[in-house]
Amino acid sequence: MSITLDKDTDTATLPERIRRFPFPFLGDQYRYSANVEPANKNVPTDAGAWGAGLIDIDEFYHKELADREAILARDPSRMAVLPHMRPAVWDTIATLLPAMAAEYPDIMSFHREGNACRWQNKLQDLDVQFTVGDDDSLPTGPLRFLGTQIQDDIVLLDIRDNTMWLDAGLVTFAADWSFNFDVGMSFLEIHGPVPRVKEENIISRAEQFLMRLQPGEQFRRTNWTMTVGNRLDTSTETYPEWGPDRGTIATDPDMPDKLHLRVEVQHLIRLPHTGVLLFLIRSYLLPLRDIAKVPTWRQKFGHVLAELPDDMAEYKGIIRYRKAASDWLLAG
Ligand code: HEM
Repeated sequence: MSITLDKDTDTATLPERIRRFPFPFLGDQYRYSANVEPANKNVPTDAGAWGAGLIDIDEFYHKELADREAILARDPSRMAVLPHMRPAVWDTIATLLPAMAAEYPDIMSFHREGNACRWQNKLQDLDVQFTVGDDDSLPTGPLRFLGTQIQDDIVLLDIRDNTMWLDAGLVTFAADWSFNFDVGMSFLEIHGPVPRVKEENIISRAEQFLMRLQPGEQFRRTNWTMTVGNRLDTSTETYPEWGPDRGTIATDPDMPDKLHLRVEVQHLIRLPHTGVLLFLIRSYLLPLRDIAKVPTWRQKFGHVLAELPDDMAEYKGIIRYRKAASDWLLAG
């Protein structure tokens, strides 16, 4: 029996993780493109909506931040700041904390006089004072501190010689890449492993677009892949922990619960004072079982997986199980 979801009633009974999920597919086919759009725009979906604000705080806030702490404790190489990027870290803090206070006035507040700042976050019983530009005014240092306040991974790209360079960041939830390996690389070098984008000129056009952003401008894009297990840290460093599951999931009876669509909402912000490009990566996971609760999502994702060209499926690491996933989705 097929179920039609009535927009006004049934979606309200879906759990928040589904209603707020940034489902990325508009049709039955997916290809790479320089898909950027202005940030802070609400996007209705067939289950709810996403994207009204810049920093999204959800029910997984404490869990994800605890995960990040544990990852950083085990592997400090997930964070790096080349010396010339220290002002950009402060620029990031002075941009994001006021934005969060404006978006969540009941739980967060930010006050600034000159360089003296006060930040309160009721979710953490936190009331902290610091001085913009003084790294010692925050005990963990400014970037690590920011990583305790937002779920997003943080990347900072310096712009010089008409090129963008990944010169700082805190990335604990990389999807099959290594932040530490990429530090110091150019935007083009970073995208070297991605199929198609060079021939299609996508990366150099994206770079030109991003370098032309005006100070303060905010854009965003989405990207997606799949993950076996409910884990955000699928970085190269931990490959032995998650890589082998890719080979067994297709025949696992628990596939619909273990296999997740992973969507990244990526913000691209030209910082107002330093002109550095801030790249935020906010990652969401939803198991196939939940996707299937929204009939249009089940159909679209099933078709996208079936149709995706092999080189893209191979790069995304989904080639061994995408058919099983697609068959399950389309059989519903
Ligand atoms: C408009 C801007 C951008 C476009 C169009 C773009 C495009 C892409 C595409 C198509 C992929 C392959 C994704 C997949 O199949 O899962 C990718 C991967 C990636 N992108 Fe971007 N990207 C953009 C911005 C950025 C920025 C600002 C960074 C910051 C450094 C970045 C870092 C990466 C990394 C690290 C990967 C993984 C590469 C690997 O496999 O090692 N991207 N990007």
